[in-house]
Amino acid sequence: MAKIFVTRELPGKALAQLRQHHDVLVHPGETSPTTDELKAGVKDADILICLLTDSIDQNIISAGSKLKIIGNYAVGTNNIDVDWATVNDIAVLNTPGVLTDASADMAFALLLATARRLGEADRFVRDGKWSGWDPTLLLGTQVTGKTLGIVGMGRIGIAMAQRAKGFGMRILYTNRQPVPAGLERDLGATFVELSGLIEKSDFVSLHCPLTPTTRHLFNAKVLSAMKPGSILINTARGPVVDEAALVEALENGPLRAAGLDVFEDEPNVHPKLKTLPNVLLAPHVGSATVETRSEMADLLVRGIQTLLRDEQPNNLVNPEVFG
Ligand code: DGY
Repeated sequence: MAKIFVTRELPGKALAQLRQHHDVLVHPGETSPTTDELKAGVKDADILICLLTDSIDQNIISAGSKLKIIGNYAVGTNNIDVDWATVNDIAVLNTPGVLTDASADMAFALLLATARRLGEADRFVRDGKWSGWDPTLLLGTQVTGKTLGIVGMGRIGIAMAQRAKGFGMRILYTNRQPVPAGLERDLGATFVELSGLIEKSDFVSLHCPLTPTTRHLFNAKVLSAMKPGSILINTARGPVVDEAALVEALENGPLRAAGLDVFEDEPNVHPKLKTLPNVLLAPHVGSATVETRSEMADLLVRGIQTLLRDEQPNNLVNPEVFG
C-alpha cells in the first residue's frame, strides 16, 4: 500500500479507485497548499499528485524523502523541476493526449470569438445598447480563407490545424522541427521561421510548452512585428507572452484583438487587459470539459498503477528513471 498525497480533490472516479488499494490523503479545500503544507504532505508520501498551480521545485522534492512518483494533473510540466526529480530517481507523469481535443476546441473557440467580437456583442446586448439591426454593427473579420500561424506543432497544435483546415484556412507553423511531410500534406501546413509566421499570419495561436527558450517569446519586438490587424490566441502558458508588451500592441497596434486563456501571473490578470474591449479573457479552462478532466485523472492513475507494477507507462515524462 502506497502513501499518496493529492493537492486537490479531482473529478471522476480515479481517486476512489486509488483509495481501494492505497492510503490517499487529499489536501482539503479549493486553494493550493502553501509551501509548508506541500512539504508536510510529501514528507511521508511515496506518490504526489499535484496541479499545474503547485510549484514542485527542489525544496518540495527534497522534502519527500520517500517520493517515487509525481503525477501532474496537466500536460505541461513547467511547474515541476523535472531535472531534479530525475536526479532523485523520481518518475514524473503528465496527461498528454486526453486533453488534446478540448484544448484545441478552446483555442479555436477563442479564435472565432475574437474574430467575430463575441465578448463585445454579449456585453452590448446585456447592457441594453441594442436598438436594432445595423449594417455596420460590430463588424468583425472573416475567418474562412485567412492565414493561421501555429507556434508549436505538437498534439494540440496539430489538432488546431485540423480545425482550421475545416474552415478553409491557410496554415503556417513553426516548431523545433518540421512535422513529417505526410502530415504537412494532410493538414496543408507549411513550416516557416517565427519571423515569417508573424509577418504573414492573420491569426497566431500559441501551442508551445513554457521553457526558458519560450518565456516571453512574444516580447515587444515580436509583437510589434506581427501583421497589422492580426489576432493573437494564447491557450499555452501565460509567460510565453510579455503581457505589458501585449497591452501596448493591442492599444497602439499592430494587434486587432487577443483571446487569452492563460496569464503571466495567474490568477492575476494585467489590469489593462480587463479594460480593453478587444480582448477575450478566460480563466485557464482549455481542458475544462467533464469528459476531459475525468480522463486526465484516469490517465494519471493508470500511469501510477503501471509504474507500481514496474512497467513503463506512456505518460512518463522522464523515461531516464525507468529501468
Ligand atoms: C495543461 O494540461 O497543461 C493545461 O494547461 C491544463 O489543462
